[in-house]
Amino acid sequence: MTEKRAIILDGDPGHDDAIAWMLAKASEKLEILAVTTVCGNQAVEKVSYNAQRICTLLGINAPIAKGKRTPLIAEPMNAPSVHGESGLDGPVLPEPSMPLSALGSVELMAQTIANSEKKVTIISTGPLTNSACLLLAHPELKEKIETISIMGGGIHFGNWTPAAEFNILVDPEAAKVVFESGVPILMCGLDVTEKALIMPEDFEAVRAVGGEVSQIIADWLEFFYRFHRDLGYEGAPMHDPCAVAVLIQPELFDLREMCVEIETGGEYCRGMTIGHNRAKPNATVAMGINREAFVKLLIDAVKTYKEAT
Ligand code: BDR
Ligand code: CA
Repeated sequence: MTEKRAIILDGDPGHDDAIAWMLAKASEKLEILAVTTVCGNQAVEKVSYNAQRICTLLGINAPIAKGKRTPLIAEPMNAPSVHGESGLDGPVLPEPSMPLSALGSVELMAQTIANSEKKVTIISTGPLTNSACLLLAHPELKEKIETISIMGGGIHFGNWTPAAEFNILVDPEAAKVVFESGVPILMCGLDVTEKALIMPEDFEAVRAVGGEVSQIIADWLEFFYRFHRDLGYEGAPMHDPCAVAVLIQPELFDLREMCVEIETGGEYCRGMTIGHNRAKPNATVAMGINREAFVKLLIDAVKTYKEAT
């Protein structure tokens, strides 16, 4: 068994964030050191409460810290149309069994990375506000960051505007800081996440595993599927789980080196991720995925919770 990769889960849960965290907790290759939240899918109070409930459900025993109320300079933007008023509508979840940390997200990230013997990977499944603040406030910690695995962007297209994907659009200034930081970046944008589709037979296979976690994951998948089906998608895009799966089984992904630049101005293109090879690459970008193998990874992960009970 190779050494586990030390990770921080940084997100705005959110249905697909929660499924991403389920994958991370189930993997023998990852060790969760901390969980941090950021305003995105809903206000930071709501996503932090969701983080506590998800960690309780999944048995993630790591400190959880709440992020700031706003992006770096932009006004906050939420996605209740996708994830509901709570940010995680759908099945009833257990009440939190652990408190929030007295530290804020950026402070917990900094402390966790500084105290870790090995380099730390940040898995970012929300806007990049926390990672940007960390890099600006603690440049000395850059060399202790193994990589930032990001769900965000799409090479020249979006889902929230024609040009921009939600996580990047919420805080483009933060994304710019992160992509220009020199820290290794793994980017799973819409190019890959809209190919990582979950179909009804897949969430029924999850439900058939049995046990509390499998029922809740199946309900979240179905919730996400119905929303996307009504928009004309063939299945539910597993945006955030890709940012975890790419660390567990990189061989499932078509990975390309690119220079990714972030549009922070623009009347129509704010938040766009421009990928090209006219300058030195700053990111490894996932452009494709073996969907069947990805679905198997997800179902196998759910089985580990059944086995644990
Ligand atoms: C991203 O936006 C959020 O709604 C999802 O959780 C995901 O992180 C997809 O654009
Ligand atoms: Ca998210």
